[in-house]
Amino acid sequence: MTRGSLLVDHIGELVTNDGRDGDPLGIRRDAALLVEDGQVAWTGPARHAPAADRRIDAGGAAVLPGFVDSHAHLVFAGDRAAEFAARMAGERYTGGGIRTTVGATRAASDGDLRATVGRLRAEMLRQGTTTVEIKSGYGLTVADEARSLRIAAEFTEDTTFLGAHVVPAEYADRPDDYVGMVCGPMLAAAAPYARWIDVFCERGAFDADHARAILACGQAAGLGVRLHANQLGPGPGVRLGVELGAASVDHCTHLTDADVDALAGSETVATLLPGAEFSTRSPYPDARRLLDAGVTVALATDCNPGSSYTSSMPFCVALAVREMRMTPAEAVWAATAGGAAALRRTDVGRLTPGARADLIILDAPSHLHLAYRPGVPLIRQVLHNGVPR
Ligand code: NIG
Ligand code: FE
Repeated sequence: MTRGSLLVDHIGELVTNDGRDGDPLGIRRDAALLVEDGQVAWTGPARHAPAADRRIDAGGAAVLPGFVDSHAHLVFAGDRAAEFAARMAGERYTGGGIRTTVGATRAASDGDLRATVGRLRAEMLRQGTTTVEIKSGYGLTVADEARSLRIAAEFTEDTTFLGAHVVPAEYADRPDDYVGMVCGPMLAAAAPYARWIDVFCERGAFDADHARAILACGQAAGLGVRLHANQLGPGPGVRLGVELGAASVDHCTHLTDADVDALAGSETVATLLPGAEFSTRSPYPDARRLLDAGVTVALATDCNPGSSYTSSMPFCVALAVREMRMTPAEAVWAATAGGAAALRRTDVGRLTPGARADLIILDAPSHLHLAYRPGVPLIRQVLHNGVPR
């Protein structure tokens, strides 16, 4: 018995994501899980459970890996509820509201931004998210992008520099100069706080040439590549991401056969963000087509004040099942192991020995209930790094 060990016992259904025996969720019934030093030390049948210092009785409930939310924009000020209301009354989403949030974010103090990230991070944890990626992208000056990432880095290792979110108003008539600034002083100021670089590659934001130039600079500075692609219409983003070896291309709402083929032959994850389609009343991406082609799919919230102001991975799982024809098992895998793949992480998204002890005890006997009981607070308890939260 190791000092500080913790046994989670009487697990009715343990989702390990170990991918063995043709079951991607790697489900074990009547199981137990031992935590030591913040990691999973052992899983197995409850009747073989080792002794431990402390014990949590799961009472026959389901236990899952904590959700890995691989796409979130949490560093911002203000909200855009009025823009949402206008959409629900028939307006279209264009991404133009990003500049409203940029104005509010620039005007906010560090303390205000930190408080917002902290509030949303806490909201996520209560809903089972134990790993989150956080992007900049509402500062769009050297100083505001650097401070956004500095604050994000207080909350996660997976910080993403999104200086190329839109061209800010003051550069509207000289986008080339803005791209030069992003690649030069802004990247230099951002890189010490960033693990990833991202570009919004879309009509009205950045075209393929600008996106390629910015992502290449980021790669040269040691950042990994991810991309907002094919959200509002078909375009070059997905294929550009595959070409550059992106860890993930995100949104993937409007895909051609060539896009799907490119993804299927690559290591790039397709991250689907159904909260954005929900909140912009847009058609959902075709998850079935991607899965059937053999593409690795992740689900994430895209939490941001414009297109998807939800922090809830269970909500995204329910949408993916109901609206995108994913099976409950595929959706749970995509929200855990899929998110880990999108962040190229092997320490989270699974509950196998050596993984971080990030787990959720559900108020339900099976992972199926996440989609079957939408909108119900089913997260009974969360362990983060082995610590009950
Ligand atoms: O992922 N598409 C670009 N960025 C965000 C939306 C940002 C906003 O509307 O404020 C997204 O949906
Ligand atoms: Fe986004």
